[in-house]
Amino acid sequence: MNSVNDIRKAFLDYFARNGHEVVASGPLVPDNDPTLMFTNAGMVQFKNVFTGLEKRPYSRAVTSQKCVRAGGKHNDLDNVGYTARHHTFFEMLGNFSFGDYFKETAIELAWELITKEYGLPAEKLLVTVYHTDDDAFDLWKKIAGLPEDRIIRIPTHDNFWAMGDTGPCGPCSEIFYDHGEGIPGGPPGSPDEDGDRFIEIWNLVFMQYEQLAVDDRIDLPRPSIDTGMGLERIAAVLQGEHNNYDIDLFRHLIAASEEFSGTKAEGEHAASHRVIADHLRASSFLIADGVLPSNEGRGYVLRRIMRRAMRHAEFLGAKDPLMYRLVPALVQEMGQAYPELSRAQPLITETLHLEERRFRKTLDRGLALLNDASARLSEGDALPGETAFKLYDTYGFPVDLTQDALRRRGVSVDMEGFNKAMERQRAEARAKWAGSGDQATEAVWFSIRDKHGATDFLGYETEKAEGVVQAIVRDGSEVDKAETGEEIAIVVNQTPFYGESGGQQGDRGVMRGEGVSVEISDTHKKADRVFVHIGKVVEGELATGAAVEMEIDHWRRTRLRANHSATHLLHEALREVLGTHVAQKGSLVAEDRLRFDFSHPKPLSDRELDEIADIANEMVLQNSPVTTRLMALDDARETGAMALFGEKYADEVRVVSMGTATRGEKKGKTYSVELCGGTHVRSTGEIGIAEIVSETAVASGVRRIEALTGEAARKYLEEQDERVRALASALKSGPDEVVARVEALLDERRKLERELTEAKKALALAGPSESGTGPEEVAGTRFVGRVVNGVSPRDLKPMADDAKHSVGSGVVALAAASEDGKGSVVVAVTEDLTDRFNAVDLVRAASQALGGKGGGGRPDMAQAGGPDGARADAAIEAVRAALAG
Ligand code: ALA
Repeated sequence: MNSVNDIRKAFLDYFARNGHEVVASGPLVPDNDPTLMFTNAGMVQFKNVFTGLEKRPYSRAVTSQKCVRAGGKHNDLDNVGYTARHHTFFEMLGNFSFGDYFKETAIELAWELITKEYGLPAEKLLVTVYHTDDDAFDLWKKIAGLPEDRIIRIPTHDNFWAMGDTGPCGPCSEIFYDHGEGIPGGPPGSPDEDGDRFIEIWNLVFMQYEQLAVDDRIDLPRPSIDTGMGLERIAAVLQGEHNNYDIDLFRHLIAASEEFSGTKAEGEHAASHRVIADHLRASSFLIADGVLPSNEGRGYVLRRIMRRAMRHAEFLGAKDPLMYRLVPALVQEMGQAYPELSRAQPLITETLHLEERRFRKTLDRGLALLNDASARLSEGDALPGETAFKLYDTYGFPVDLTQDALRRRGVSVDMEGFNKAMERQRAEARAKWAGSGDQATEAVWFSIRDKHGATDFLGYETEKAEGVVQAIVRDGSEVDKAETGEEIAIVVNQTPFYGESGGQQGDRGVMRGEGVSVEISDTHKKADRVFVHIGKVVEGELATGAAVEMEIDHWRRTRLRANHSATHLLHEALREVLGTHVAQKGSLVAEDRLRFDFSHPKPLSDRELDEIADIANEMVLQNSPVTTRLMALDDARETGAMALFGEKYADEVRVVSMGTATRGEKKGKTYSVELCGGTHVRSTGEIGIAEIVSETAVASGVRRIEALTGEAARKYLEEQDERVRALASALKSGPDEVVARVEALLDERRKLERELTEAKKALALAGPSESGTGPEEVAGTRFVGRVVNGVSPRDLKPMADDAKHSVGSGVVALAAASEDGKGSVVVAVTEDLTDRFNAVDLVRAASQALGGKGGGGRPDMAQAGGPDGARADAAIEAVRAALAG
C-alpha cells in the first residue's frame, strides 16, 4: 500500500474528498510563463489563477505535478547522483486554494493527511514558520498541538517561497520529519541543519503577493494557498528509507539499469545508476512534452542531462546504448499516472537511442583527449578552459560533463578560459556572416540570432504562450519601441506562431502586453530559426523586453493543419495510383486550399483522379493518429520517409507518419511517412474530407492538383449539389436522372440540327433565290448560281453536289454569308465540262469578290472564302462573268 503509485493516489483522493478538483499535471515547458525554463513547482500552471488574470470553474485544486529543476533558479543538476535527495525530475504533490481557504484550513488539511492518511506519528514531526508569521505559529499550536519548541521561526528566505524572480509568492511553513537520534544532523535553523536527521517533507506557501520586479511587490487579489510535497521524499519516509533512490520506483528503474548494463548498483557504481535512473525520468518526460535535444535553450539542457547519463553508462562499462532500453521500465512505473509518457514512448526511445549513438561516436576520442590532457593534473588543479572548449565544440561534451568526469579526481575546469573560448567562436561566426553577399541583406536577422539565439517554437503543442520581446525591426533596422499604427517585425524568445516554411503559410493572431496590442498578419522564419512576426501595433506602445501573451488564429491554423496532412495523404495516393516516379515539385499549404505540384508526363484521367481521392479519403476515415518522431536523417531515409531531393535537412529531422495501408505491398504498414517540420492534425479524421478540385499542367512533365478539405470541401460540394438541383429543376427531372436527361436532350438537338440543315438545303435550292430562280443559260452552258444564306460553309459542298446531279451538265456556284459576316463560295463543274472549265479557277474569281485570295479543290469541285460575306452576290456574278467569257 506504500508504493509511490499508492502514495500519489492517496494524496489526490484525499483532497478530492475535501472538495478539490483533481487537475492533470501541467506540461514541463510552461506555456504561460516565458521567464521559466521548466515547470519547477505545482503552482506554475496556476500562476495566472493566483494573480486573478485567469478564471477557473473551481477554487480548490489538487495535482501531482511533473517538475524539472535543471536550469534557471532552481537547478539541481550537478548534485544529482551524489546526494540522497536531489533530482533533475521529480513529482510534486500539491493542494491549492485560489482565494478559497487560507492558513487555518491549509494547516488542518495538511495535518490530517500526514498523521491520519499517511499515519506518521505526531512526535516525529516538527514545523517551521516565517519568523514574523504569528498566525501560522498559533495555528500549528492549536491544530496540531505541537509544543512551541517544535514550531521553529525561520527569518531567512528559506521560509519565503517564490517561483522565480517574478510571480506569486509568500511566506511559507514547512513540515519536517525527524529520522531520530541515530542520524546526524540538527533541526532547521540550527548550524547542522544540513544533516540527514530532519528532512523537509512538505511546504505550505501562504500566497499573498505578486512580485512584479525586483523591488516591486503587490498584494494578490485574495490570499491563497500553494503547497508542495516531493513525492520521492514522502515515499522514502513512508517506506522507511533515507535515500530517495531506495524507494520502490527507483529500485525498479535501477534494477533495469543493472540488468542492461550488467553491473550492480554498489560501490563506485551506485552513483552512476542513480544518475541514470534520475536522468532517464527527466529526459523521457521532457521529450514527451515536446523538448528535443539541441544546442540551445531547453533542448540544450535536455542534451546535457542525456549526455550526463550516457557518460555514466560509459562508467558502468556499457558498450552499447543503454538509456533507450530502460524506457519500458519507466513506462511500466509511471505510464499510468502520466498517459503522455506511454503515448510518446516511441519518440522517447528513438530520441534516446539516436542521441546515445551519436554521442558514443565521439565519446571515445573525447575521453582519450580528456585523459591525455588531464593525466598530469592532480587534486586541486584545473583543466585549461581551451581543452574544455575543444571537448565541447568538437566532441559534444557539455562543460558540466567534463566537470563531472574530473570531479572524482578533485580536478576542476578553468571556466573563465572556457567562456573566453566560447566568446571567440561567436565572434568568428559573426564575421563570417558579414562577409557573405546574400546574407548581408538579411544581416539584421543574423545579428538578432547572434544576440538572442534561435526562437523556441512552442506551436506543435500550444496555440497560446507568453514570451519576452527580444527585438523590434522597423524598415529593416532594429528599434527599441513601436507606437500605435506602426508596422513592424517582432522577435520573441519563444512563440506558438508557425513561421512560413515547407510550403505551409505562417500563422496569424494577436500579441498582447500591458496596454499594448499588436495584430500579427504573418510569420516568417529567418536566419536559422529566428521567428519573425509581422504585425501592426493597434493599441499602445510595444517595447523590447516587454512580456507579451501570444495567441494564434485558431481557425486558420486548424485549416492549415488539415490541408497539410491532406497534402501528405494525396502525395502518397498519387504515388500509389500513378507510380513512384511521382515526386513533389512544389507545394502550397494555404488556409483555403492546398496545391501540390508533382512530376508526371501526362494529364490525369478522371478515373485516376477518382482513385486518388478515394484512397486519400479512406485514410481520412481511418481516423488514424498522426505521429511525429525525431530521427537521424539517414535512419529516416531508411524507413522510407519521403524527403525532397536537393532540400537541405538538418542531421535530425521530424518524421510525420499517418494512416495504415490497406492493400498492395505496404498493406498493414504505415501509409504516409514524410520528413516535415509543419503542423498536422492529431488524427486524420480531423481532415474531414479531401476533395480534388482541379488538375492542370504547370510545366512540361509537371502536373498540379488543387484540393480542399473540411469545411471548404463541404462548401464546394454543397455548391456543386445546388447546381445539380437547379439543373434538375430546370429539366423537370430528379437529380439522379439529370445526366440521362441531358444526354437525351443533346441527342435530340443533334437530330434537330440535322433536320434543320436538310430543310435549309432543300429550301435554298428549291425556293426563290435572292439572285434569280432555276438554271439559266450562260454562253451555252447551264449555270446554277445562288446565294444561300443561313447554310453553313460545311454544307455548301454536298448542296453543290446535289445541284450538279439535278442539272445534268453545267456549272453550279453557291455562296453564303456566315453569322460572323465572312463569305464562303463553292463551285462545281459536271464531269463532261471539266475540259472547258476548271472549278478552281472559277472559285478563285468568286473569292476575289469576297475579298479573299483564291481557294482550293479539284477541277470539278472547289471552295474558297473571303472576309466580305455581304458580297456573296458579287461572287456569283464573278462566276457568271467568267462563264460568259
Ligand atoms: N511552490 C512551493 C514549492 O515549490 C510549494 O515548494
